[in-house]
Amino acid sequence: MKVLIVGSGGREHAIAWKIAKSPRVEKIYCAPGNAGISEFAECVDIKAMEFEKLAAFAKEKEIELTVIGMDDPLVGGIVDVFEKEGLRVFGPRKNAAILEGSKAFSKDLMKKYNIPTGAYESFNTPEAALKYLENSNYPIVLKADGLALGKGVLICNTKEEAKEGVKTLMLDKQFGDAGNTIVIEEFMTGREVSVLSFVDGKTIKIMTSAQDHKRAKDGDMGLNTGGMGTFSPSPFYTDEIDSFCKERIYQATVDAMKAEGREFKGIIFFGLMLTEKGARVLEYNARFGDPETQVVLPRMKNDIVDVFEACIDGTLDKIDLQFEDNAAVCVVLASDGYPEHYDKGFPITGLEGFKDREDCFVFHAGTKFEGDTIVTNGGRVLGVTATGRDLKEARANAYEAAKLVSFENKYMRKDIGKAIDEA
Ligand code: GLY
Repeated sequence: MKVLIVGSGGREHAIAWKIAKSPRVEKIYCAPGNAGISEFAECVDIKAMEFEKLAAFAKEKEIELTVIGMDDPLVGGIVDVFEKEGLRVFGPRKNAAILEGSKAFSKDLMKKYNIPTGAYESFNTPEAALKYLENSNYPIVLKADGLALGKGVLICNTKEEAKEGVKTLMLDKQFGDAGNTIVIEEFMTGREVSVLSFVDGKTIKIMTSAQDHKRAKDGDMGLNTGGMGTFSPSPFYTDEIDSFCKERIYQATVDAMKAEGREFKGIIFFGLMLTEKGARVLEYNARFGDPETQVVLPRMKNDIVDVFEACIDGTLDKIDLQFEDNAAVCVVLASDGYPEHYDKGFPITGLEGFKDREDCFVFHAGTKFEGDTIVTNGGRVLGVTATGRDLKEARANAYEAAKLVSFENKYMRKDIGKAIDEA
């Protein structure tokens, strides 16, 4: 089978690595890919939003399965374009990817179908939002309705900060049209857990849990990032919480989408907050998490191509999804200064230390070739994942493995997975 992956980050590298393990796959392409992905896939110089070009490429190369990694093309309708051309593609159609593409849509869906989430109101004028803030409790959360590179969520401690936030999102339009509508949401406290799932329109199969570390600095300080590291499973995601989510959240979401005429096929990523009152949905994403994927897929036992196909064909109920009884930790190696200013183009050494290993992996996020040398090419550069019998062992292994790689301005958080000491 020939497979095409659309995307270019650590998530797509982990997906490519997992697909390459399938005995059914003879050739992988990735558009546009990165230096690390090129170990498993032929990288193709077509951008993720060039839907027609990608579909033409898939036809020309007789691609039998395309896997969309990123949110932007999914929300933009790439799956519809591929399906119109008769191509097999894994991911939700545009009318279902709205689950991630519009915060107002997803909040309204949860309200309508009684799926536990924080209290909220949506606003499409700054005047109405500002008026609402007059009598609100603080802290409060402001969310841009549309996609904003994961940066459209503002936690505001005071009324003044919140008013400034409305200006940033709706008047200054820091995230463009994504801020035309905003959601103002109750501030919830607790532990965050990421739960990824495969969905075939009617059946949902939950993957093992994970936890991300979104802030740039140790102790969850500093600016929000795309994610500085992950661990899996989350010891805070207990059997009791799992039962509650199965009863109230997971299948309920799939059924709600079906009832709305928006059958969802692909990945639903449940961003959960474990509050004192129980689990609440913070957000939905319509694709694999990054860097959650880098700890979840190394623990997955199944041939992922079988699972992708079952989602497309509506036969997911026949799949026995299984994960290793172990743990994994991913430490992101970033460019110092990320997520603000950082320099690029530094040579990376030590990558050969990961070759042919099954206990640790290096997934490339922002790298490229300069001649024969792999150099840094982004804020998040690499994700170093290691497995272990338990989380403590996996964490020790991940930090040991992170020492193998060197580049100028290498920066990482030193406390990824530290929370497990409190479990
Ligand atoms: N790690 C969070 C995300 O993928 O959106």
